[in-house]
Amino acid sequence: MENEELRKRIMEQAQGALSMSIAYIGVVNQLFAHLADADSAAPTWLAKKTGMNADYVARWCDAAYAFEYLEQPAENTFGLTPLGHTFLDDQPGNLISFAVQSVLSAHMAERTAGLMRTGECPGEKILNEWETILPWFGPMLEHMFGPLLKSEVIDRVSVFSEVNAQGGTIIDLGCGNGWYLRAIIGRYPKLRGIGLDGFEENIEQAVRAAEREGLTNRLTFAVGDIYNFHVDEPVNIIAMNRSLHHVWDQKKKIFAILRDHLCPGGSVVIWEPDWPLEYRDLRMPDRRALAFQNLSEHVLGNHFLHADEIVAELNAVGLKPEVFSIAGGRDVVVTGMRSK
Ligand SMILES: C[S@@+](CC[C@H](N)C(=O)[O-])C[C@H]1O[C@@H](n2cnc3c(N)ncnc32)[C@H](O)[C@@H]1O
Repeated sequence: MENEELRKRIMEQAQGALSMSIAYIGVVNQLFAHLADADSAAPTWLAKKTGMNADYVARWCDAAYAFEYLEQPAENTFGLTPLGHTFLDDQPGNLISFAVQSVLSAHMAERTAGLMRTGECPGEKILNEWETILPWFGPMLEHMFGPLLKSEVIDRVSVFSEVNAQGGTIIDLGCGNGWYLRAIIGRYPKLRGIGLDGFEENIEQAVRAAEREGLTNRLTFAVGDIYNFHVDEPVNIIAMNRSLHHVWDQKKKIFAILRDHLCPGGSVVIWEPDWPLEYRDLRMPDRRALAFQNLSEHVLGNHFLHADEIVAELNAVGLKPEVFSIAGGRDVVVTGMRSK
């Protein structure tokens, strides 16, 4: 490739990152949402409505106009373009997760660059460093993986409908903002759910969303630790979505806990990114992000797993594994059934 073409490619990528940063500021401060409600408005109105500083909002409008999120129907008046509408929370298929992930990645890159010199892995507490990102962490995962649950998991993984047939309980360990349980419980009326997460912010969001969706009669959430949780009796399903790799350093202990909390015939349902066996697969467009995320995971003290590693641990505790490859092989759902 000629130098000029390379330069053009990199410039486009750099502008892409900038455009995600502008979108992020608009998303987390509800600027897109209020502009959508108003149809069009002046920056001073928008600042007042959102409780933000007027000078900052005016500069944001300039940048959002430059990146074509906003149009200017009259002088000093802005409205959303069709692109701007894609960053509204209530739009199906919205693109909010890209903006949040982009800014989170930039923060992680900055921390990684420094930590690489010392080898320190500060762990999960690093997520608390970024005041505006933490509340968006759950919604980001929900927007990214909620549609995939519905299109590729919920019908294919038969344990949900099987347990629903006679009724039962599902517990979600490391439930985040509870999107997965809300979707499963919403779909299967005879299931009850318990969600557990170490971050208070996540549990508060999960409770609020369950209340909004009218699910609190079958769904409870609590702050707790995966290594040390209590349920009154063994459950039918234990789900872990993108949380197993957080506790993998104590995998023997975790898999014993999983088995011991399942009733006979019960199943674990583990959803994880599937680190490719073929190294060159990291170059596939939908796996590149995985390689970057795995670098960030190292900062948290974690790493991604290959499906075979999960299968081996299930076998070791006597749970019968079944593997479902999803998202074109980028992710995997592995179930493990306890004998009846
Ligand atoms: C990548 S997030 C996934 C969240 C959620 N399952 C989802 O799919 O959106 C991993 C979650 O595991 C939780 N977690 C990690 N270690 C934990 C532990 N020891 N006890 C409880 N929660 C934990 C984190 O707080 C975080 O919400």
